[in-house]
Amino acid sequence: MYRKRIKLEKLLNKVVDADAAAALIKDGMVVGMSGFTKAGEAKVVPRAMSKRAEKDPFKITLMTGASLGNSIDANLAEHGVLARRMPFQADPVLRKAINAGSVKFVDQHLSELAEHLSAGQITPVDVALIEIAGIDEDGGLVLSTSVGNSAAFLASAKHIILELNTAIPEGIRGFHDIYRPKLAPNREPIPVLASASQIGTPTVHVDVDKIDAIVVNHEIDSPASIFDPDAETGAIAGHLVDFFHNEVKHGRMTNSLFPLQAGIGSVANAVLQGFLNSPFENLTMYSEVIQDSAFYLLDSGKLTFASAAALSVTAEMLERFFTNLETYRGRILFRPQEISNNPEVIRRLGILAINTALEADIYGNINSTHVNGTHMMNGIGGSGDFARASRIAVFVTKSLAKDGKISSIVPMVPHVDHNEHDVDILVTELGLADLRGLAPRERPPVIIRNCMHPSYQDMAMDYFERSLKGNGQTPHILGEAFSWHIRLKETGSMLPK
Ligand code: COA
Repeated sequence: MYRKRIKLEKLLNKVVDADAAAALIKDGMVVGMSGFTKAGEAKVVPRAMSKRAEKDPFKITLMTGASLGNSIDANLAEHGVLARRMPFQADPVLRKAINAGSVKFVDQHLSELAEHLSAGQITPVDVALIEIAGIDEDGGLVLSTSVGNSAAFLASAKHIILELNTAIPEGIRGFHDIYRPKLAPNREPIPVLASASQIGTPTVHVDVDKIDAIVVNHEIDSPASIFDPDAETGAIAGHLVDFFHNEVKHGRMTNSLFPLQAGIGSVANAVLQGFLNSPFENLTMYSEVIQDSAFYLLDSGKLTFASAAALSVTAEMLERFFTNLETYRGRILFRPQEISNNPEVIRRLGILAINTALEADIYGNINSTHVNGTHMMNGIGGSGDFARASRIAVFVTKSLAKDGKISSIVPMVPHVDHNEHDVDILVTELGLADLRGLAPRERPPVIIRNCMHPSYQDMAMDYFERSLKGNGQTPHILGEAFSWHIRLKETGSMLPK
């Protein structure tokens, strides 16, 4: 079955089993692996690496596009294989190891890793371990359900190991658009002028002599764990639809808006799903992942084109995509994340960026990553790439977490991922705060009144009013700014007893 997918015959003798391929990865190596939000990661070789580590302990630096499925991060972390991990993860076991300090996690803007590699600013990749769906006669590699950093890893690696996934339909060829920007000072403008711009090649061209092993797998990606929209996420979507409707009414955009970006997670997915019942038409998406919501919008005809670095869908949606590839051909494109998340392109296209915050403060600073200021949740992902360069940066969050014991709006965030300069709109289920053009002192009353849960509003207003006595551009009472977080740590709730 696999032989017909390897069209460059001289590579047929490179096919080995997973254990043999795993043995090529040595202690201390840097491995650049495919995989982005549980899509398109190598599957059987990492498992063989964990098995090998039981008898022959070794450690690597693992770089990927983003998070991995099939419990690969958990497995590698449990077997002590990970010394360093970058640029993103979303696995509970690995998260624990990171927070315990046993795995060094470099939490990085997703567009930047390839740039740093290409410019030689970080240790180069020893082995690229990449899932593919086929090899053309000319050696061109057909990637699978993600592009992520695969092209960058393949270009810079000394050795290449491929996992040929025969569960991916061969028809996926043509859904990828591989373009690598030149290095400064010779960089040229990236010619993406619209979400649908096709600027590269359908396959990745590599030096085939670097291919040391090909391993066959037949496993599908893990499903995205996304919860159905609920009343709160539905309300957040409603506020955003009203907001964009108002932008249209004031002539700042047409009924097709500008290309949409929506971050990972249940909230962002639900928000996009809310666009199904909106008055907008001919929407486009220039994002990092294509979630279930994008398929609903494509199927309804509301969305005409979706560009991203990877899929991030439920099992049902993956099946729908694989069995209806021709329906989606020409309407979906997967790009390298240095292009999908490229600030030059994001600014040019006027992206409307919608990302999720863990918490926001009364001045509009956002913490997306660090629970109570210290403990890593997932990572910044592409939210920073998009928020800073976007036309409008929206952050959404439910007003409360953990049954009301946590307010998602606090006096001061104890970790900042997106500072007040990058945040235009904040939305909770209770309402929307439009921060555009507001000075810091003007923001707390709007955020507290529109977005904050009533059980915390008086406490926040009292804090802000007392902080004004100390003056300043951004008034605070420093000795008290983290008192809500301290109370949470000590009593289990931000609310006073
Ligand atoms: N303090 C502590 N925990 C909080 C919290 C807060 N202020 N707000 C939410 N949480 C918890 C929730 O209770 C939930 O916990 P659980 O997993 O134990 O149930 C968890 O965080 C996830 O929150 P949820 O409301 O389900 O939202 P989500 O699935 O949309 O995830 C983020 C929210 C912020 C964790 C997620 O969007 C993320 O990692 N973002 C950063 C990366 C990013 O933005 N990428 C975008 C480009 S793709």
